[in-house]
Amino acid sequence: MVPAGKLRIDELSAEERAVYATLKPEHIPEHVAIIMDGNGRWAGRRSLKRFLGHQQGANSVQLVTETASRIGLPWLTLYAFSLENNLRRPRAEVNFLMRLLKSYLESNLQRMMDNNVRMKYIGRTHELPAEVQEKMRWAEEATARNTGTTLTLALNYGGRSELVDAFRGLAAEIKQKHLSPERITEEDIHRHLYTAQMPDPDLLIRTSGEMRLSNYLLWQIAYTEIFVTERLWPDFRGIHLLEAIADFQRRERRYGGLSESVGEVEENPERIRIAAG
Ligand code: FPP
Repeated sequence: MVPAGKLRIDELSAEERAVYATLKPEHIPEHVAIIMDGNGRWAGRRSLKRFLGHQQGANSVQLVTETASRIGLPWLTLYAFSLENNLRRPRAEVNFLMRLLKSYLESNLQRMMDNNVRMKYIGRTHELPAEVQEKMRWAEEATARNTGTTLTLALNYGGRSELVDAFRGLAAEIKQKHLSPERITEEDIHRHLYTAQMPDPDLLIRTSGEMRLSNYLLWQIAYTEIFVTERLWPDFRGIHLLEAIADFQRRERRYGGLSESVGEVEENPERIRIAAG
């Protein structure tokens, strides 16, 4: 795998460098996806308002993105705002998250440029407030020529609604081209996902200890390794990303096949006696 952009290991902190030194650089994942959870709990534990947890969470987004760019991680996809957040959270919190996103993009654009980060979005972003969409487009266009990490923010995103949108697109194509449904392949579905241009995530990180997928990238994570940490998102830093990658590198991915440590497989099933029950 060729890392995205230039490696900037010298820009890692001393602690990060120590963890990076334990990694196999040729096995850095291509795509890391993160469910950023625990902003509210982080604030609650400090008797602060939830908003302050989100604000600290935005700070973590920037720091983790910069570490990702220094180690040449090609794709980083963050669950920043789900369809369910949009529908089920109090309006005041949703409005705050929208304002935070706008000011985050405004105030971090220069840092994105300095770190060669390209910005993208997935989700039903056309349903977000017009001024937020405008700021999103502005940041996407400004960073479009960057060649390092692609930071994708999932905004107003839901995995099932992504599949609905993909199937609608595919159905329209089938109708228009008079194709036979029997010929639909997995690749056809992939082409209609929001993530059509990206590889599937190798590693999914979830903060705050919850063992749930929360409707995130449901199609794409079929063979993704999952890493759950108790750490709350506002406390998550680049070093924790590196630790998660170290854990990932100790896993053996089999994609439904057999472990390399399994010895020779008996080729003649007739010779295998099944123990009588
Ligand atoms: C979960 O915390 C987190 C979110 C609602 C989405 C993530 C949002 C951010 C990191 C802040 C803004 C991001 C950007 C890109 C500017 P929670 O409120 O569900 O936490 P809780 O489960 O502890 O209540």
